[in-house]
Amino acid sequence: MVITIDGPAGAGKSTVARALAARLGFDYLDTGAMYRAVALAGLRTGIDWENPDAVAALAQRINIELRQGRVFLNGEDVTEELRSSEVTRASRYVADNEAVRRRLIELQRQFAEGKNVVTEGRDQGSLVFPEAEVKFFLTASPEERARRRLRDYQAAGENPPFQQVLEELLLRDARDSSRPWGRLVKPEGAIEINTDGLDIPAVVDRMEAVVRETIAKLREKEKGPVM
Ligand code: DC
Repeated sequence: MVITIDGPAGAGKSTVARALAARLGFDYLDTGAMYRAVALAGLRTGIDWENPDAVAALAQRINIELRQGRVFLNGEDVTEELRSSEVTRASRYVADNEAVRRRLIELQRQFAEGKNVVTEGRDQGSLVFPEAEVKFFLTASPEERARRRLRDYQAAGENPPFQQVLEELLLRDARDSSRPWGRLVKPEGAIEINTDGLDIPAVVDRMEAVVRETIAKLREKEKGPVM
């Protein structure tokens, strides 16, 4: 079973996806972490970001693994490093690269094979797992999302001005929604949840109820009509 959670930066996807996966006993796939891992690898090797072929070759070369909520780049645990603003900024070159997207989508589908997963990103319900049993689309106001992003940075030891975080977030929204391939859209059939002013457990409660209802319906269907 696949549950997709898509939405813009800072909508709360990672937090609710992790919590929902834990409650259901599903695996959790953070696809943003994959894009970030390629960005970190590029920063470390001093890649020319304006050269899309070099970025694509890098994504082919490196090894990215997601295990027990940790992210490993060529075997090294880089989970915390991926949250820095430097990585966030560089990740746009990665996310805009179609060859990289194809490579990461392949890894995402491999990860989900034969598993129950909660996956989150921008294109999960629309492009990567169009057959997902349940799809969510999470939103929140730009100000709320910028506040959350700032908290992320602070947890990583940075403290950029709020206005700068907000402006960068609006720019990312524009990029995420306008790339020719794999752009952020509300997937067909997705349930939209605006997380403004909602606390995480309340959002996860709602999502869990929807998923459990779907599981019950699927089980009924499997049993077939009662004679
Ligand atoms: O969700 P996030 O901030 O960790 O995402 C990091 C970057 O990767 C961001 O530039 C958006 C991009 N991304 C994407 O293009 N497609 C996904 N499925 C997930 C993330």
